[in-house]
Amino acid sequence: MSKTTIEVVIIGAGHMGSAIALGLKRSSLNILITAVDPDLARRNAMTTMEIYTVEDLPNHSTPDLIILAIPPQAFKKMSTKNLNLEQYEGPVISVMAGIHLSELAAKLNTPQLCRAIPNLACAINEGMTALSFHTQITEENIRLIEAIFSSLGKTITIKDETLIDSATALIGGGPAYISYFTAALMEYAISTGFDKDHATSIAIQSLRGTTTLLSTSHNPPMALCEKVMTPEGTTIQAINFFNSMQLRTIIVDGLKRSQDRSIELGKGV
Ligand SMILES: NC(=O)c1ccc[n+]([C@@H]2O[C@H](COP(=O)([O-])OP(=O)(O)OC[C@H]3O[C@@H](n4cnc5c(N)ncnc54)[C@H](OP(=O)(O)O)[C@@H]3O)[C@@H](O)[C@H]2O)c1
Repeated sequence: MSKTTIEVVIIGAGHMGSAIALGLKRSSLNILITAVDPDLARRNAMTTMEIYTVEDLPNHSTPDLIILAIPPQAFKKMSTKNLNLEQYEGPVISVMAGIHLSELAAKLNTPQLCRAIPNLACAINEGMTALSFHTQITEENIRLIEAIFSSLGKTITIKDETLIDSATALIGGGPAYISYFTAALMEYAISTGFDKDHATSIAIQSLRGTTTLLSTSHNPPMALCEKVMTPEGTTIQAINFFNSMQLRTIIVDGLKRSQDRSIELGKGV
């Protein structure tokens, strides 16, 4: 990558758009960010993060890269005229669930496209992003997009676009499931008498320590789980109960529902 400034426009300054903007701002890349959003409160929130915002993308804008972070329903309803993208020839990355590369190509009239499924941890450069490129995108644009998302955390490239629906369930939704589990740990801690601060420390430090152990050891997660499950001990009682309630099956089935919703969004349902 050259050292020149990369001009990035983020259309949609909601949860995902602002996470990307913050992560880019904190990254080591030399980036100039403009966030576009009709909502004044969202724009003000971005301004407090020292990110330049506009209500509409000006005509004839020529940034190096555009990231579409609006709801898929909003994209389906809008015309490219609304987006002011008619003259733009650079790469467009969509982080929208459900919207296929073919639909993006037809509407935006370009093959310089990538679908990306990031998550909110991009805000602290610890994100995970799955990328799926249009077959006709240039190598130069692929390198630029990979550099942008690598600056926000880890990336994987998916050749089979249909996997984006399960990536949406897994990666986009990932922080929600982990937060849900964390909330359950805290709920239990508080129910047994810990105050909120202690409950928060216990849950979050346990997660942090465990994810570090998992990422530094080369063993599968259940190997670590089994190390804690001393026969006739305490943890095994909880895991046996989870198994009897088929908790893992419930989680897998929940993710399937999330994937199904991504497919539905693509159909405009
Ligand atoms: N949240 C996540 O963790 C996550 C993860 C992966 C992918 N995504 C994808 O990211 C996209 C955004 O999700 P989100 O959670 O960030 O939604 P969100 O918080 O509702 O933000 C979307 C923002 O886009 C704005 N917007 C709508 N139409 C626009 C337009 N034509 N031009 C500019 N801005 C426009 C909305 O403004 P109004 O509210 O005024 O309409 C809103 O501020 C979705 O497509 C989602 O599938 C999200």
